[in-house]
Amino acid sequence: MIREFHQISLRDRNSFGVEQRAAHLVEFETPDDLREIFARGIPPRWMVLSGGNNVLFTEDYDGLLLTPVARQITILEERGETIRVRAEAGVEWDDLVEWAVERGLWGVENLSLIPGKAGAAPVQNIGAYGCEAADTIRRVEMFCVETATMLTLDAAHCGFGYRESVFKHALKGRVVITAVELELSRTPRPRLGYGDVEREVEARGGATLRNIREAVCAIRRSKLPDPAVLGNAGSFFKNPVVEAPVAEALLAEYPDMPHYPAPEGRVKLAAGWLIDRAGMKGHREGNVGVHERQALVLVNYGGATGGEVIAFAHRVRQRVRERFGIEIDTEVNIL
Ligand code: EPU
Repeated sequence: MIREFHQISLRDRNSFGVEQRAAHLVEFETPDDLREIFARGIPPRWMVLSGGNNVLFTEDYDGLLLTPVARQITILEERGETIRVRAEAGVEWDDLVEWAVERGLWGVENLSLIPGKAGAAPVQNIGAYGCEAADTIRRVEMFCVETATMLTLDAAHCGFGYRESVFKHALKGRVVITAVELELSRTPRPRLGYGDVEREVEARGGATLRNIREAVCAIRRSKLPDPAVLGNAGSFFKNPVVEAPVAEALLAEYPDMPHYPAPEGRVKLAAGWLIDRAGMKGHREGNVGVHERQALVLVNYGGATGGEVIAFAHRVRQRVRERFGIEIDTEVNIL
């Protein structure tokens, strides 16, 4: 079933809480709904607006927004310790994590409390605490707009990388994700290597699924603002990946700079640390600011427009460039 809205306010549909409107928004459930919508003709401008957790509207959207609302989670197959699970695109990601943890299924617990929906998880390959959606996603189901047919893409063809996938590039604007298939396991596979996770898990009595979920939730709550209280879109910037000599030169000057190995001998730096050390953490200008506990996150203190956020982000980038000679790119989708 579809539900249609015209000239609708997006304020409650984007976690930044900016006040913009969309000319047309359709909530859909099934592939047939999508067939029906696109049978009217492919609109010149359209996109998927899922949970609105990684988007910043800087103006009214004059096209069609499609929002998935189907929320079924099904077990497709159980083979030994391995369980294949299918989640429809409209499932809240954290509901899926809770569902898995309740059933003793390992694989997504480190991704607890990431805001957004399951259908959006593969797009930016959501990640936290040493894990990524790509570790468990095996297939992605999608509606291909040009052919009006359903396609299933194996993970090997999804082009997953750090906050990257084919859905941000070759398939952008061409498909609508309708479901994801994950492979979870009954065999315990605790991944505690990142930051404070191990300490928080031990404090709760050891590496059970429930303890890991609770530890991750506690760490996130202590650092990241709740969008229901303070508008934000999680990390506004991506962690920059630089060539090894660039990282070495910086490390000579700042030996305590966090850095992580990245593919092809490159080095990932922590944009939060760079912004923090550039003196911008907690910095506020008008209605926009750098969050006081996690410098990667920009927040809307209330009433900020998308334009104000962009102008502020520009100044943050400039400050990091002046101080460290490093470019930090936005992670959030800016419209
Ligand atoms: N740091 C600072 N100051 C800050 C923030 C961070 O010095 O204000 C330092 C930390 O002390 C640490 C390093 O920078 O040494 C990395 O910080 P943290 O572990 O908090 O992670 P992050 O790299 O800042 C990434 C993800 C987060 C994810 C965390 C945990 C990106 C863009 N962000 O942040 O994802 O929760 O790791 O895994 O990769 C999101 O994407 O919206 C998001 C919140």
